[in-house]
Amino acid sequence: MTSSDLVPALLGGTPVRPQGPPDWPCADDDVLHILQAAYQDGSWGKYHGLYVERLEERLRRYHGVEFALTCASGTFAVELALRALKVGPGDEVILAAYDYGGNFLSVHAVGARPVLVDIHPENWNLDPDHLTGAVGPATRAVIVSHLHGGMVPMREVMALAADRRLWVIEDAAQAPGALIQGRPAGTWGDAGVLSFGGSKLLTAGRGGALLTPHAAVHQRARLWSHRGNQVCPLSELQAAVLLPQLDKLDACNARRRENVALLRERLGEVPGLRPFVNPCAEATPGYYKLGFQFEADRFGLSRDRFVAALRAEGIGFDAGFPALHVGRSPSRFRQAGDLAEAGRAHEGALVMHHPVLLGTREEVEEVVRAVHKIRDHVDQLREGS
Ligand SMILES: Cc1ncc(COP(=O)(O)O)c(C=O)c1O
Repeated sequence: MTSSDLVPALLGGTPVRPQGPPDWPCADDDVLHILQAAYQDGSWGKYHGLYVERLEERLRRYHGVEFALTCASGTFAVELALRALKVGPGDEVILAAYDYGGNFLSVHAVGARPVLVDIHPENWNLDPDHLTGAVGPATRAVIVSHLHGGMVPMREVMALAADRRLWVIEDAAQAPGALIQGRPAGTWGDAGVLSFGGSKLLTAGRGGALLTPHAAVHQRARLWSHRGNQVCPLSELQAAVLLPQLDKLDACNARRRENVALLRERLGEVPGLRPFVNPCAEATPGYYKLGFQFEADRFGLSRDRFVAALRAEGIGFDAGFPALHVGRSPSRFRQAGDLAEAGRAHEGALVMHHPVLLGTREEVEEVVRAVHKIRDHVDQLREGS
């Protein structure tokens, strides 16, 4: 190690990973072979081939649900779920004030009104304790997203939803293959959502799926997405590349979990930087991102500066989502109670991208080294900003 290795890359030192974060998707011979097969059998240019049907069957079996319907994106799958559950104008839908922004907009897309609730202080995911107080006469559904390795205790959500007669849409876009209280993410509610977008754990560049135990929901979603032809389909080629990835999902998730455990252990206590902790012990998380609670004052740097410093080291970090109540007109949602934690997440959520979690022990150590290098130079980095 030279003295330049000890200096943050933003201050002219040598980056911990000069090659940058690991690429995604990673090379996979099984994907190559299935693409070759789809070329040979002509599926690559057909409306209907072998692969979409096979993928829907595999998704059904993997998740143990009655119905799976693929479509063009996770965002569209959320809208389909809302429409298939007959949520529309005049209705309200509860969601966490810290969530994927597309979910808020999908509620608007069906003419309904979002109701925003606060999040859990430990993992910045939806907190079931806030649901009951948020239900009003027009509330019809709740969207529950598992975010950044955070898992929402679904048994509690389902009990409250049953009590108040709410539909539950469980968004597992960030957690395919995760287990919550013994069941796969996306299978607890009346509808579950998966995403196959370009950065996701199961990727086809674009794509999504709706899971449901209800024949009527499946049928209404199918009708909604057909106008003589399917309006937002998953293609045969996209379905083909997802098949081998689904076969490996459990093994990849297990490896990601091992590396998250190693990272937590090796990182130790860093003032102002705390990985999300799930309040629900009975959870086997999926890690599309690993979320962190960042406190700029305690760490000694602004979040933007910390992200810039990590990226300069070749480590894939980003700020989290903006909270949904910030910067939006209050006429576009109803606020249910105090949103203090969501406000903190708006300022302080950080996410680490997943590809490094399939890497070696040394690659995990590189993340730790980069964080400590930056932490040791916060005064100089603040001055240089
Ligand atoms: C929680 C969540 N839900 C839904 C989506 C939407 O998925 P897609 O990009 O396939 O539209 C995303 C995308 O990042 C997400 O993070």
